[in-house]
Amino acid sequence: MPNPLCELLAIETPIVQAPMGGAAGPKLAAAVSNAGALGTLGLSWTPVEEIGRLVAGTRAATERPFGVNLVLEWDQHERLAAALDAGAPVVSLTWGDPRAYVEQAHAAGAKTLVTVGSAAEARDAVAAGADAVVAQGWEAGGHVWGGVSTLVLVPVVVDAVDVPVIAAGGIADARGVAAVRALGAAGAWVGTRFLLAEECEIHPVYRDRLLAATETDTFYGTLFGGGWENAPHRVLRNSTVEAWEAAGSPADVLHPALLPLADADGEVEAMSLWAGQSVGLVREVQPAAAIVRELAAGF
Ligand SMILES: Cc1cc2nc3c(=O)[nH]c(=O)nc-3n(C[C@H](O)[C@H](O)[C@H](O)COP(=O)(O)O)c2cc1C
Repeated sequence: MPNPLCELLAIETPIVQAPMGGAAGPKLAAAVSNAGALGTLGLSWTPVEEIGRLVAGTRAATERPFGVNLVLEWDQHERLAAALDAGAPVVSLTWGDPRAYVEQAHAAGAKTLVTVGSAAEARDAVAAGADAVVAQGWEAGGHVWGGVSTLVLVPVVVDAVDVPVIAAGGIADARGVAAVRALGAAGAWVGTRFLLAEECEIHPVYRDRLLAATETDTFYGTLFGGGWENAPHRVLRNSTVEAWEAAGSPADVLHPALLPLADADGEVEAMSLWAGQSVGLVREVQPAAAIVRELAAGF
């Protein structure tokens, strides 16, 4: 059966490697796209002058489509222009009004994916021109836009719009993929599982914490809000979370939002170790192509 997301994006397998800030770099994105799914680059905090090189580097490593992601908490028109000039074929937008960015992307011939947390937001995204919507459930890792769980959100969004719906949040194996297909999603958007791809260049201390964590080891809140306040997120519980709770969870304390990449300096265990509840399903480090193959078995 033809899959509407595969047709829209010209991919073989309707799985998207979620954008994950700097952890979703060219190496990971190209490996996922070469395996037939859609890799993405997280460009929200990348200096504008580096964007052309990152997009061109991904293009050089894969002939297949890949995406770029921008968080709309800040003005991103310049970053989007740089990504489109370098030939990015798919643009993912989250955390803000997408309309002007959708128009900018469409003018360059790119497809747009807009993240939503409710049926009403999905209708607004389609009215703004989104080619597909990403329904991100509350169990997701990283910054979490809505408060509804994936099991409820996906079918209400599927019922609300006529564009392909990509389910996000809590999907880490073929069973999760099969489950969101049963809910009507055209595709699956997977973050935490791809943090454990060989091609994902996170710090070894962060990787080991992910491998050891269970589904009860995440924290949801706004504690790591330095630089991006009042934006709820999900991280691994660590010494920073525990010390804050022991101090009575003071509302005025904010820690910096830092994603520890391989070259991070300092106390990595205490940093914001972004992860979804699906971390409890993630058990090993594997090549990205093997992860794509395993997830695809859910279709
Ligand atoms: C380390 C990390 C960083 C993230 N960074 C971004 C980002 O830059 N932009 C974005 O739209 N979503 C970001 N997210 C959210 C993911 O796109 C996705 O919604 C989430 O990972 C799905 O849930 P899962 O982790 O259970 O697969 C991030 C998630 C993680 C785990």
